[in-house]
Amino acid sequence: MSQFPDPKSLLHDAEKQVDHARSPEALAEVRITWLGRKEGRLTVLLKQLGSLSMEDKKRYGPALNELKSSLEALLTSKEKTLAAQERARTLEKDTLDITLSGSPYVHGRLHPLSQVMNELVSIFRSLGFVCADGPEIENDYYNFESLNVPANHPARDMQDTFYLAQGSGQGTQQALFPEHGAPSTEPPTLLRTHTSPVQVRIMQKYPPPIAIVCPGRVYRHEAQDATHLAVFHQMEGLLVDEGVSFADLKGTLARFAQLFFAPTIKTRFRPSFFPFTEPSAQMDVSCWICEGSGCPACKGSGWIELLGAGMVNPKVLSGVNIDPEKYSGYAFGVGIERIAFIKYGVNDLRLFYENDIRFLEQF
Ligand code: FA5
Repeated sequence: MSQFPDPKSLLHDAEKQVDHARSPEALAEVRITWLGRKEGRLTVLLKQLGSLSMEDKKRYGPALNELKSSLEALLTSKEKTLAAQERARTLEKDTLDITLSGSPYVHGRLHPLSQVMNELVSIFRSLGFVCADGPEIENDYYNFESLNVPANHPARDMQDTFYLAQGSGQGTQQALFPEHGAPSTEPPTLLRTHTSPVQVRIMQKYPPPIAIVCPGRVYRHEAQDATHLAVFHQMEGLLVDEGVSFADLKGTLARFAQLFFAPTIKTRFRPSFFPFTEPSAQMDVSCWICEGSGCPACKGSGWIELLGAGMVNPKVLSGVNIDPEKYSGYAFGVGIERIAFIKYGVNDLRLFYENDIRFLEQF
């Protein structure tokens, strides 16, 4: 059987062809050439083994089977190599770069006024106050009468508001604040001008000792400018107990200013007038920008006006059946936009409402 090919030279041929195959398709051709079921070179030789002499069978049989296993192993390994090269080429051509990091996710945050409100509440909580709430749609009794501002009192001029049609506020108020129950049916209904009506609502509901703060939105019918808005926020504070004095008010507010602005801040009280407090005061804080020497922020005075305050008028206490002979209290009201404007050195309150992301991002 001298014309039967030498298995070693066959393996050599096959190796060369496998080596030259540059694509999975070319390699598949090589597989068919050698191992194709009908005419594969090795398949044909294996079929021919049967017709060989016993001696040749012994010589070629094991060698051809070994050749078949080696060839299969070779083809499988080359298939893997070509598939990996193909994947790498596809990735190179692909316009999608999966190693690029994604676009940054823009995190939202609380509006600066909410941040200030939260900070104020948390400072007063640390001083023992609890946070209360009250309706924005009020009636004349809570907003004015109960606070010792009778009809036709000149103090009403300073807090003109938006009146609602008589009686119409009741349904709206119940829908918005069901937890507050029905308001007094006393007409007229209005948008509250300050958070002070919450004082009365709380004193009607709870006996002393009382220590609350109440942040919320208020409304005034006035022209808007850099320091005045028609819709703004205030935070009310009220403390009623036995033996409360003006010294308690001063001490609490001075501590609050240190915690909110700076430990070195100074406070001063100037006489003022509110019908629902007696005596009344305006509290100023020393300008921490110029440290009292005078700058544009404090209009050269070295002081910045911060809030209105005073001792709860005994008439207000009597109105809610709290004995003014036994109990006394203090109250204060601070403008949230004004305090944010002072703290952050903003020069126009209206900026807080323009929703310009470049402005809001700074806080
Ligand atoms: C009052 O509203 C009183 N209820 C405060 C008070 C409460 C006094 C308890 C005594 C006891 P006044 O009108 O001054 O007071 O307003 C309080 C604060 O609200 C002001 O100091 C100011 O910071 C802010 N404020 C007043 N009007 C406006 C406005 N139009 N725009 C923005 N902030 C305002």
